[in-house]
Amino acid sequence: MPFQKLRPQIEDILQNKEKSVDDKLSEVCELLQTGIPYYDWVGFYFRNGDKEELKLRSYAGEPTEHEIIPFGKGICGQVAVSNKKFVVPDVKAQNNYIACSIHVKAEIVIPLFVNGENIGQIDIDSHTEDPFSHEDEIFLEWVNKKVAEIL
Ligand code: SME
Repeated sequence: MPFQKLRPQIEDILQNKEKSVDDKLSEVCELLQTGIPYYDWVGFYFRNGDKEELKLRSYAGEPTEHEIIPFGKGICGQVAVSNKKFVVPDVKAQNNYIACSIHVKAEIVIPLFVNGENIGQIDIDSHTEDPFSHEDEIFLEWVNKKVAEIL
């Protein structure tokens, strides 16, 4: 698993004092998308001000039309409301799902908490069926914890 190798690289990106938060988030997305073969799209969504919606802040992979997602809609919008991670081994089996690309077969969304408040999430799409394990969840929770420290 590449996770152990990626952890120090993520820490390096996030600790860099010369880069903006947006640059750091983009670099984390790039690193994850290129470093893990079944991570085909990686993005961070955050609550859009006081609105009941998520806004895409950084991503790596194909551009998406879904830069704004209302709370409750799709996998991302459900996580914004439930405060719980959502692992989808087969997106076809979900009826509240927003398709970003016909190639996507699976998705994982992990909420990002700052001071106990769910302020956003990391979202990963995969073109591989049922690729995510408990290791991915542990790793992505760790990524979000580290990102929360710089927000
Ligand atoms: N599939 C997501 C929408 C975001 S895209 O994956 C980039 C959802 O159902 O919320």
